[in-house]
Amino acid sequence: MRAIALSEFGGNDRLELTDVEDPKVGPDFVLIRVRAAGLNPVDWKLREGSLEGAFPHVFPVVLGWDAAGVVEQVGPAVTGVGPGDEVFAYCRKHFVGEGTYAEYVSVPEDFVSRKPEAIDFVHASAVPLAGLTAFQAIVEATAVRAGETVLVHGAAGGVGAFAVQIARARGAQVIGTATAAKHEFLKDLGTTEEIDYSQVDFVEAVRESRTDGVDVVFDLFGGETLWRSVDVVADSGRIVSLADPLTDDHYHVRGITPTYVFVRPSGSQLAELARLIDGGEMRVELEASYRLEDAAQALERLETGRVRGKLALEVG
Ligand SMILES: NC(=O)c1ccc[n+]([C@@H]2O[C@H](COP(=O)([O-])OP(=O)(O)OC[C@H]3O[C@@H](n4cnc5c(N)ncnc54)[C@H](OP(=O)(O)O)[C@@H]3O)[C@@H](O)[C@H]2O)c1
Repeated sequence: MRAIALSEFGGNDRLELTDVEDPKVGPDFVLIRVRAAGLNPVDWKLREGSLEGAFPHVFPVVLGWDAAGVVEQVGPAVTGVGPGDEVFAYCRKHFVGEGTYAEYVSVPEDFVSRKPEAIDFVHASAVPLAGLTAFQAIVEATAVRAGETVLVHGAAGGVGAFAVQIARARGAQVIGTATAAKHEFLKDLGTTEEIDYSQVDFVEAVRESRTDGVDVVFDLFGGETLWRSVDVVADSGRIVSLADPLTDDHYHVRGITPTYVFVRPSGSQLAELARLIDGGEMRVELEASYRLEDAAQALERLETGRVRGKLALEVG
């Protein structure tokens, strides 16, 4: 099958459109003919070898953890989907190599959900990793409730845009951070207040409108922003980071609950996201899509860190 693969770690010049072996289909696995593959920052981090210590890598490494497509074949133990079904999945396995920048990907059945009917394959492919991250942080880790206030850092990006909408759907008020040019975009997603973190001190800005602080902080970038975020969390509030394990004592004060999330595959949670999308409570903001052979160009754009919403590859 055709795929974008790399035979060694490095820059975008290592990406090659090539033929690789078709994936094998285990007894409880689903073979998906990939129609579109969503992009995530982890893709270029994997390309550079940054996660070499965390996962075994099997070369040639095909990048990509997100897919939407049509079921081509199922193993004999699969009961929930069958050939011809339109599905989407977060395809991270225990090793890196058989990614979704390819014509086919094979994953365990419980990674897979029916694709939302309201959106096409390209938009659906942009949901799994980022949507599940937001879901697992907002619904599982912090259990955001109606009437609470959530501060979402990086609200205009792939994960942040889903986090804003999931928190809104649960009845929370959302303060989002982004540069000013993206504030209208944030309002459309449902924020009640926007902060240009590049121009104003976000701690002062939050404290101005919420003297007691916010119930939940959602962090994507770690570093000083995360460190200082403790100063805007209300007593007994929650702070969830996707960037830092929050083991430092700094985060264990005033009854605050700090949690780190590393997103895991879940077909059942993807089905919940599909229900939000089909019910009109969440939309998928796609900045652009690219042809499979233009994956390098797409990753170059993603690496700027300035994408609004998501990027995806059109595969077939
Ligand atoms: N632990 C996990 O399981 C997990 C899962 C998913 C993602 N992540 C990580 O989370 C990070 C974000 O992922 P993503 O997919 O949302 O990335 P993304 O789509 O590339 O994020 C781009 C957006 O981030 C905003 N941004 C950049 N720096 C910012 C800052 N310091 N403060 C506020 N906004 C900022 C930009 O808005 P402006 O241009 O307006 O600044 C841009 O719209 C990545 O590092 C990714 O690896 C971790």
